[in-house]
Amino acid sequence: MEYTEHISVLKEEVVEAFTENLEENDCLVDLTFGAGGHTAAFANMEKSTRVISFDQDPDALENGYVYLKKNNLEHVSLIDSNFENFPKFFNERKSELLIESGVKGILMDLGVSSHHFDDRTRGFSFKGEAPLDMRMNNREGVSAKDIVNGAEQEVLAMIFKDYGEERFADRIAAEIIDKRSAAPIETTKDLENIIFHCYPKKMRFGKTNPSTRCFQALRIAVNRELEILSEIIPRLIDTLAIGGKLAVISFHSLEDRIVKHSFKALVKSRSDVKILTKRPIIPSISEIKLNPRSRSAKLRFIERILE
Ligand SMILES: C[S@@+](CC[C@H](N)C(=O)[O-])C[C@H]1O[C@@H](n2cnc3c(N)ncnc32)[C@H](O)[C@@H]1O
Repeated sequence: MEYTEHISVLKEEVVEAFTENLEENDCLVDLTFGAGGHTAAFANMEKSTRVISFDQDPDALENGYVYLKKNNLEHVSLIDSNFENFPKFFNERKSELLIESGVKGILMDLGVSSHHFDDRTRGFSFKGEAPLDMRMNNREGVSAKDIVNGAEQEVLAMIFKDYGEERFADRIAAEIIDKRSAAPIETTKDLENIIFHCYPKKMRFGKTNPSTRCFQALRIAVNRELEILSEIIPRLIDTLAIGGKLAVISFHSLEDRIVKHSFKALVKSRSDVKILTKRPIIPSISEIKLNPRSRSAKLRFIERILE
């Protein structure tokens, strides 16, 4: 299917912060290209601004190359890679790209894009029948189906508890083990059905679908989202120029907690960083009205300063 529209969250706030220290020929990095909204805004900030963007999703990349061409943004480098590889990319390419002294801004707009939920064949949504996949990079790695059919009961329960804060995690994990001993759990609907019946009858038709938390948890596990996030934040600081900023937009408390604690740990361990946001920046009421998906977003900044 065609790549669906994705409205960029907190775009003005990120652009405003990155504009402050921007000089001619500076380089900005968008580690989560998605539909390219933030990237396009960066590319249009200053004529000479160079932009490097990353995404690991083949659909985002395919759409992105066309989008950049259509919008005359061919000077943006769109890299097909997990953003955990950015420090390596930076070290290998910094002299060729003339960014030895670092980049002026890095954005991570975390999680999945609207496309992932809208394209039901990707298996992120329980709203359609699809193979249980949930990989952003669906060319490699372990899928949700592999985890659901292969992980031990304790591991499944841990995933649902830790990444989904699911109160019926133990019951759901036990039911999965029981059901998969008869036949593999293949599709989103198979799993939704199992979870639905683990919920007490009076809670099955509430405001939130019983599958919401377990599907979020599985998606986080499949894409190693929290593990990669905690590992990458400290490594990005050395790729920033003095006066360069790292911006992170998160969408749930598990992510925001990691961002907040990683920033605090960085300030404790090195004297060349400064947290710019004591409290996270959140979308305005008008942004939330325009784009309800932005309601849970939290934006935090840290800056590299002179020692
Ligand atoms: C919330 S969307 C970004 C939307 C984008 N800022 C925009 O304005 O359109 C997140 C994107 O980041 C990508 N992504 C998430 N984690 C990633 C990772 N570890 N490495 C590379 N890309 C990742 C996803 O594939 C998705 O396309």
